[in-house]
Parts: sequence; structure tokens; C-alpha cells
Amino acid sequence: MVWFYNSITMTDKCETLQRTLVLLKPDAIQRGLIGEIIQRFEKVGLKIVGLKMVWPTKETAMGHYTEDLAQRRGERVRELMVEMLSSGPIVAMVLEGVEAVELVRKMVGSTEPKSAAPGTIRGDYSHVSFKHADSKEVGIYNLIHASGEVEEAGPEIKVWFNDDELHDFDPKYCDYTIV
Ligand code: CDP
Ligand code: MG
Repeated sequence: MVWFYNSITMTDKCETLQRTLVLLKPDAIQRGLIGEIIQRFEKVGLKIVGLKMVWPTKETAMGHYTEDLAQRRGERVRELMVEMLSSGPIVAMVLEGVEAVELVRKMVGSTEPKSAAPGTIRGDYSHVSFKHADSKEVGIYNLIHASGEVEEAGPEIKVWFNDDELHDFDPKYCDYTIV
């Protein structure tokens, strides 16, 4: 079946087919993990529909880490994360696949590296605790951001991508991994 995608997250066209935002944060780039992390998403058969390297401004970082983060985690965490995200280049991508928002969060693992399960990206490549990061007054280096909810994905994608930077195409492998 051929779908004609207009909506940024696909949910208008097919409820189970979704797009989600992933950012490889500055620590992932500094540690040389871009390829390893992207490979994990390719291996499960997700489609990369947008991909770029950006050095975010503070304004863009604040558009991403919004007031919602301050409300959930405190104003200080938001400040630290805006600082962190604008401290160097990051890689932004949009992944498309079946219930991709929840799937990618599963692959990313829990926010706190210490609690993130082995096999997840955070669990395999980081280990610090909230307690340790708090004692150092730093944001947690956990390598990656992924949209938390379907409703969050659309607005988050718009922070980083224009419509013409997201591509509708059908790589052959998706006949088998997405159908
Ligand atoms: O990234 P995720 O959706 O798992 O968690 P969040 O609650 O949306 O927090 C965003 C980011 O803030 C986290 O990924 C951490 O890097 C950072 N954070 C932190 O540095 N210290 C905390 N106590 C909580 C979050
Ligand atoms: Mg979040």
C-alpha cells in the first residue's frame, strides 16, 4: 500500500505508523558514538526520514527543553540542559516506524543511566546516577533524547526540521520491517 504523507507525525494517515524525534546530544558526538547509535535504529528496521548535524543556539535549545521540563524537573535542570545542548554540535533525526515513539523510548532506556537496563542505549553507554550529577551540579549525560509521547513528537520535530527536510521515500527493507 502506498501512503501519501502530509502530516509531520503520520498519525492522520495511519494510527500505528508514527514519526519521532531523536537527538544525539553533545556527549554522544564527543564520544564518537554517532554511528553505533544510528545503527541500532537501522537494525530494528526504522526508517530515517530526516537527519542533520546542528550546533544549537540557546534559543533553539530552549524551544526544545521547554517550560514543561522546568515544571517536571525544576528550573535548574532546564538551565543546565539548555547549556548542555548548546555546548556543541548534535545530530538530529526523525525516525519513522510502527508505534515508533514508544519503541524508540524502549531502545533509549530510562532517564537515569544508573537505572537504565542493559541492552538500552543509555544502559549500554552510560552509568551515572542522579545523585552523582546533582552533587556535581551538572546535567545528566545520557547521550540521547527521544520524544516521550506521540503528542510531543510533532511539536518537537518542528523545532528541528522544516517540512522539506523530511523525506517520503520507500527503501526496500521497509517492505519487510514496516510492511
Ligand atoms: O530525556 P528524558 O525524556 O528521559 O527525561 P526528561 O525528564 O525529559 O529530562 C530531560 C533531560 O534532562 C534528561 O535526559 C537528562 O539529560 C536531564 N536531567 C538531568 O540532568 N537531571 C535530572 N534530575 C533530570 C533530567
Ligand atoms: Mg523527556
